[in-house]
Amino acid sequence: MDATQEFGVEQNSSPAKACAYKGFTLWFTGLSGSGKSTISAVIETEFKKRGVKHEILDGDVVRTNLSKGLGFSKEDRDANIRRIGFVCHLLSRNGVVAVSAAISPYRAIRDENRRMIGCFVEVFVDAPLEVCEERDPKGLYKKARAGEIKEFTGIDDPYEEPLHPEVVCHTDKETPEESAQKILGRLRELGYIEW
Ligand code: ADX
Repeated sequence: MDATQEFGVEQNSSPAKACAYKGFTLWFTGLSGSGKSTISAVIETEFKKRGVKHEILDGDVVRTNLSKGLGFSKEDRDANIRRIGFVCHLLSRNGVVAVSAAISPYRAIRDENRRMIGCFVEVFVDAPLEVCEERDPKGLYKKARAGEIKEFTGIDDPYEEPLHPEVVCHTDKETPEESAQKILGRLRELGYIEW
């Protein structure tokens, strides 16, 4: 069952123009430590400056409330991403810019959310695994390498890169500000924002 069936919502295929000044979803995907949360925080500052109504659904935060109790099996990750997608759908259709910053490792579920939401901009936060591992902000890669954490994305669990993301940020070569400006530029180009 895909999200469209599960939540009984119609597929939304509105072109980007129809979403201008309305809500849309900015969907980050990438490995842990790739920079999703950091870039979304910079984007948030820009939204605040412009008075854009928005909500950030950060993977780590969502897992302490909406998805509390879920683990990291494929089934649980899919459930997590479908829940986030559904909230993004509700926000977007009510004029809010929903920003998702979760690993979302499976292409099929991201694409399901894209079909459900319609006004959907996928940002691939592309940092090589070695770089994420070197950053290791939470010390989790080290634990995963030591076998203390199982099913860790990029180590012993898959990450499926998007095939046609609207934006790719190379966070090993760009600063978070540069990545954020690239995303805003693309949103402008696609007609989602006019500033
Ligand atoms: S997702 O796969 O379901 O999209 P999500 O973004 O919510 O993942 O959570 C990922 C965060 O959980 C990571 O940034 C990391 O802090 C933590 N984490 C704990 N265990 C794992 C694991 N096995 N794989 C990936 N991330 C994990």
